[in-house]
Amino acid sequence: MNIDGKLTAKNLRAELAVEVAELKSNYGIQPKLTVILVGEDPASQVYVRNKIKQTQEIGMISDEIKLPADTGQEELLKYLEHLNNDRNIHGILVQLPLPKHIDESVIIAAINPNKDVDGFHAMNSGRLFNGETGALVPCTPQGCIMLAKQHLGSDLSGKHAVVIGRSNIVGKPVAMLLLQENCTVTIAHSRTKNLPEVCQQADILVAAVGIAEFVKADWVKEGATVIDVGINRISTEEGKTKLVGDVDFDNVVGKCGAITPVPGGVGPMTIACLLKNTITAAKQSVC
Ligand SMILES: NC(=O)c1ccc[n+]([C@@H]2O[C@H](COP(=O)([O-])OP(=O)(O)OC[C@H]3O[C@@H](n4cnc5c(N)ncnc54)[C@H](OP(=O)(O)O)[C@@H]3O)[C@@H](O)[C@H]2O)c1
Repeated sequence: MNIDGKLTAKNLRAELAVEVAELKSNYGIQPKLTVILVGEDPASQVYVRNKIKQTQEIGMISDEIKLPADTGQEELLKYLEHLNNDRNIHGILVQLPLPKHIDESVIIAAINPNKDVDGFHAMNSGRLFNGETGALVPCTPQGCIMLAKQHLGSDLSGKHAVVIGRSNIVGKPVAMLLLQENCTVTIAHSRTKNLPEVCQQADILVAAVGIAEFVKADWVKEGATVIDVGINRISTEEGKTKLVGDVDFDNVVGKCGAITPVPGGVGPMTIACLLKNTITAAKQSVC
């Protein structure tokens, strides 16, 4: 069976719209997200447009600062300083990837951790690692957990979760969240030996690899819950292109208990969780 990320994200956005209205009427606060886009990467432009549209649809304010590709690191840092100090801005997101002459780690470190709605600042990763409440948690991993719970219910205790991938954006934070949910967690990566056998142990299998249709049906335990984070564009026999995940969906869907499709699974949850983080940041600014 498919886990419907589009519907789950729509329901979450509806809940968040109520929270935004309450924040406005109870505290006179309208959560505001500011997105900085450096350069003209077409995929980034589409992501930013979607983020801004969905933010506004639930009653929040959002704006975009568009900077040319040759913007210097110091200039970008000046923009961040200004946004960090603006009390009316609750969430700041610098769209990645940045042009090569800018050091992403310097930029992420310069965002006020209380406004870091991507959850990439070391302060927020540290809070997540320590299991502290109040951390702004990276959006895609949050979405993965919500989708796993959509199928398995709220208690994931004791499940064996295998995460393939150890990036700071997806693999590591999703593993930390699964640990917080009392799963037994294995993190696999490119040096993992006997990967198919490791994956066969998984009650919950999260694939965040970036290789099209990498996870095969015989790697998947009967009845497992499969969360496919991958977004890969491949060519079809008709000479067109299509998006596929990191899991060989057509062959896995009949074997697993449930799977997130690509597109329509984890993807839609990412922006919904960004809105959620901005509301959390706005709430924390008044508490
Ligand atoms: N749905 C969404 O909203 C969303 C958001 C973010 C990312 N994504 C997608 O998720 C995928 C992963 O993204 P990412 O940013 O985490 O990618 P990444 O930074 O490239 O990390 C990929 C991970 O996969 C591991 N890996 C690579 N080849 C492997 C192999 N043969 N066997 C086992 N592990 C292997 C790497 O291991 P090493 O560490 O050993 O190199 C690395 O940890 C991509 O397709 C990306 O487009 C989707």
